Amino acid sequence: MSDRLFIFDTTLRDGEQVPGCQLNTVEKIEVAKALQDLGVDIIEAGFPISSPGDFESVVEISKAVTWPTICALTRAVQKDIDVAAESLKFAKKGRIHTGIGTSFYHIHYKLNSNPDAILERAVEAVKYAKKYVEDVEFYAEDAGRTDNEYLAKIIEAVIKAGATVVNIPDTTGYCLPYEFGEKIKYLVENVNNIHKAVISTHCHNDLGMATANTISGIINGARQAEVTINGIGERAGNTSLEEVVMTLKSRQALLGIETGVNTKNIYNTSRLVSRLMNMPVQPNKAVVGRNAFAHSSGIHQDGVLKNRENYEIMDPTDVGINESAILLTARSGRAALNHRLELMGFDLGKEKLDEVYEQFLKLADKKKDIRDDDIAMLAGDATRHEKRIKLDFLQVVTGKSLTPVAIIRLDIAGEKFDATSAGNGPVDAAIKAVKQIIRRQVTIEEFLVQAITRGSDDIGKVHMQIEFNNAIFHGFGAHTDIVTASVEAFLDAVNKLPVGQ
Ligand code: KIV
Ligand code: ZN
Repeated sequence: MSDRLFIFDTTLRDGEQVPGCQLNTVEKIEVAKALQDLGVDIIEAGFPISSPGDFESVVEISKAVTWPTICALTRAVQKDIDVAAESLKFAKKGRIHTGIGTSFYHIHYKLNSNPDAILERAVEAVKYAKKYVEDVEFYAEDAGRTDNEYLAKIIEAVIKAGATVVNIPDTTGYCLPYEFGEKIKYLVENVNNIHKAVISTHCHNDLGMATANTISGIINGARQAEVTINGIGERAGNTSLEEVVMTLKSRQALLGIETGVNTKNIYNTSRLVSRLMNMPVQPNKAVVGRNAFAHSSGIHQDGVLKNRENYEIMDPTDVGINESAILLTARSGRAALNHRLELMGFDLGKEKLDEVYEQFLKLADKKKDIRDDDIAMLAGDATRHEKRIKLDFLQVVTGKSLTPVAIIRLDIAGEKFDATSAGNGPVDAAIKAVKQIIRRQVTIEEFLVQAITRGSDDIGKVHMQIEFNNAIFHGFGAHTDIVTASVEAFLDAVNKLPVGQ
């Protein structure tokens, strides 16, 4: 059996069915291109008969994507298959995914039919799809609750009719991992022509077991996994791509199965899908959650600083996250504080560190979330980087029906430089003007504005993270004028960039 698992991504079909997650065609193309860069093998682009929008998306994704197979879903209905084939006409490699419910519930209560008639419809649908494309996938909907003997009979018949892939969905997320694995094993052992098709898993997460079921299916012989980014999908979602791919990568020595996924693109793709589909990623989501690599207990932080593998089974950089986040809380140790201070450019020495650590513990007792600017304040401004670039003058013109314009003067090592820029807001205009002067390729990765007290006369605190040459630099600014605070925060970070690069 091959040791290569095909990744079939259904974010744009099963994932997109979720209320509130609908994308327009342009957005779907953006996701499809990201999936291609991620290295998935098959992109299920839609259910073309379901709406003109879905049809158009399959057409446009087929044009936009170069190498993954593009798949279109149908019911076991000729009209569905005609429309799917039409939508795939620009696909370099097209697949029709047709199928029908095979469980007792589906046969009797949904389809009002009987097992023999369903088997016949399944075979007819595959034969009909075969007239259009070579690559035909058959799904036995609710296979998770389908009797194994009947399932094997129908799978053998559809392979004989030409199915190249046989999908065994746990549509209702009902199976236990060992049970789902045994189902796949049963098919491997009891379907005579099974070697002529690839077995696919398609698990839902109603009991939180979609990934476990998928892995169990793979262990028992499945060589395609149907997944979505961030596990989005109907109800509790589908199997998440990142969990399956990283399980196989992390346990490669045991499982010996590979995918073609470029794991370093996982995090960016996760964030793109989350943003476009308005579906936040839960902070403790495996692999891509904000806290997936964040350590907050002192013992763990110390362990990670000594050797990352003490508490991390995956390297965060393997999924495109730059480094494990050490969250500073009242439980953090001196080593974690010192590590953060070093990242921020402070080199305090033992005595000063002890002093700052004591103040840090007092502050951490009062405040849950210790931020870099709090630490910078504790460490004392005097020890901070000497500011080579200073804000000398800033004037902003802004208003409801005006284009915001900023005039800025910077003092760089004693020399004055002026610039003027427009922007979509006063902060944007001011930052653009600064960028004109400093001419460094930096991007703002995070921009947080907080009021220190209440009221319109507040001092605004701005915390910024900028990226330069794949490294992150932090900046902090505080001022009653929020634009000035933002520019100060930006310059604070820029002052930490290596000079001359
Ligand atoms: O969950 C399911 O059974 C499906 C099929 C249409 C493949 O999504
Ligand atoms: Zn599904």
